[in-house]
Amino acid sequence: MADWNSLPASSDALDTALLIGAVPRVITPAVRASRRLPPRRRAQTTVQAWLLVIDVRDPVLGAHLRRVGRLARDLGTAAGLTDVDLDALEWSGRLHDVGKLGIPDEILNKPGRLTAAEFERVKLHPRLGYELVRHQAALDATLPGILHHHENFDGSGYPGGLRGEEIPLSARILRIVDSFDAMTWPRVYGELFTAEAALRELRRGAGAATDPHLTELFCDLKQSAPLGQPGALGGATRPPGRA
Ligand SMILES: [Fe+2]
Repeated sequence: MADWNSLPASSDALDTALLIGAVPRVITPAVRASRRLPPRRRAQTTVQAWLLVIDVRDPVLGAHLRRVGRLARDLGTAAGLTDVDLDALEWSGRLHDVGKLGIPDEILNKPGRLTAAEFERVKLHPRLGYELVRHQAALDATLPGILHHHENFDGSGYPGGLRGEEIPLSARILRIVDSFDAMTWPRVYGELFTAEAALRELRRGAGAATDPHLTELFCDLKQSAPLGQPGALGGATRPPGRA
C-alpha cells in the first residue's frame, strides 16, 4: 500500500484537514462508550455506528455499500482468496465509501455534472475513509481497499496514481464491483445500464480502468449467475428510477 504521506497533495488541503478533524469528532463519543469492549467487538460496534449514520443520511449509498460488500466477496471467492481475506474484502466493500460522510450532500446528490472543484472534493473520500478507519486496529486489513478503490489499472486513477499490480488486490476487486453496481442501480447521476451493457462497459475498460484478468473473471461469474438474482443477466434487476 502507498505511504499515506507520499500521496499527492490535495488542491483543497485546508478543507481536507478540517474534514478529517471534524469526522472523528462526530464518531468519538460512540468510540469512547465502547472502549471497554475487546478490540474486534469494539471495531464492529464502531462500524455499525458508521453504517447506521450512512443509512440515515443516504439510504441509497448504504444499500450500495452492502451490495458492493457482497459482490466483492463473490469475486474474491472466484479469485481463490482465503476465508480471512474474504472477510476483510467484504468489510472493505461495506466501508469503501465511508469517507463520503465528509463530503457535502449538495455535491454528492447534485444532478448533472460536477464542477472541477466539486470533483476534487469528491476525490477526497478515499483519504477521508482511510483516516476514519485507520484508528481501529481490527480493521487494518480493510485499509488498502478503502484508500485505493478508485485507482485505475493504467495509473490514471486516484489518490495514489498506482498502476497494475501495484494496486492492492482488494482495491482492484472493489474497482470492478463498485463500477458494476454504480452502473446497474439507480442513482442521482450517470446512465443506468442493464447488467449485460454494464459487463460490456467493464470489458471495454479492462486494462485501462480495471484489472483485465479479474474483469474477465467477474464477467464470467455474472454471466453464470442464476436469473432473478440482483445483477443477474436477462431480466429486470432493479426498479426504474433516476439515472
Ligand atoms: Fe468511492
